[in-house]
Amino acid sequence: MIEELKNKSLTELESVKSVDSLEQWRVKYLGRKGELTSILRGIGSLPDNERRLIGSQSNSLRGLLEEQYKKIKPTLEKNLTHDSVDITLPGRTRTKGRLHPITSIIREISEAFSDMGFSIVEGNESELEHYNFDLLNIPKDHPARDQWDTIWLDRPNRDDNLLRTHTSPMQARIMENSKPPIRVIIPGKCYRYEATDATHEWHFHQIEGLVVGKNISFSDLKGTLYELARRIFGPSRKVRFRCDFFPFVEPGVDMSIDWKGEWIEILGAGMVHPKVFEGVGYDPNVYSGFAFGMGPERIAMLRYDIEDIRQFFSNDLRFLSQF
Ligand code: PHE
Repeated sequence: MIEELKNKSLTELESVKSVDSLEQWRVKYLGRKGELTSILRGIGSLPDNERRLIGSQSNSLRGLLEEQYKKIKPTLEKNLTHDSVDITLPGRTRTKGRLHPITSIIREISEAFSDMGFSIVEGNESELEHYNFDLLNIPKDHPARDQWDTIWLDRPNRDDNLLRTHTSPMQARIMENSKPPIRVIIPGKCYRYEATDATHEWHFHQIEGLVVGKNISFSDLKGTLYELARRIFGPSRKVRFRCDFFPFVEPGVDMSIDWKGEWIEILGAGMVHPKVFEGVGYDPNVYSGFAFGMGPERIAMLRYDIEDIRQFFSNDLRFLSQF
């Protein structure tokens, strides 16, 4: 009887070709209700002489079957992983990420300035009133400080912390911490508490620029910004400078780019105001300089013919995947 069981089980094992059928085989012979197990269980009720013989035979069969089982299992498992790769299936396409159009335009502008010898620095989005307004000659009663324009941060023990409304505070921070000559741009994000429309967002980017040295003149400002316009919009695009006012420059200008016969303003600029120099401890009789702040969103809109600024942050892949 044991011999028969041995032949049967080993023959069956030969035809086992998968992990699943191996498991069925194990249950059938070695499982708790398996054929060999029930023989072993019944041994106690056998007469003495048979008990010893059958007992040792079935124990050694169990050892043999367990050994065979352990031997065959890893091979089958290996086959399983091997077989699971179906090389005839078409490959899975991996979607490729891309840069956000604002990131690309900031990089492109930064590269243009870098070629002109500017270094690139970043600043904090959380600013102090002192840098965002005071040092920039923006007095306490200036409308830009209105709660309608500024997002103030709610902090224990301080009421002078805000999300920067422009990147200009970095002008003061950089001058405080370095000596001329300075030639730097500061790209970054700004926030204003205002209603959004096709050309206004409550958060947007700016690229601030600052040049300070001896004998820096207004023609340096114009030359630098013309060069930028040529790099970004090509040599034949029309550019317009106009007088404008910003408390931290004198004289102040804005620059616009021709867009289908319309002038679109892309930046404010001017010669650094003597009061700003005084505030950071520079002698305005020794140093002069110019500063500018441009809007990459506006530039990207002109560049790619985008009509609504709100699309940039709508996270709509149909929009974003066009760039
Ligand atoms: N900070 C100004 C703004 O946000 C732009 C500007 C920067 C103007 C530097 C002049 C000089 O509108």
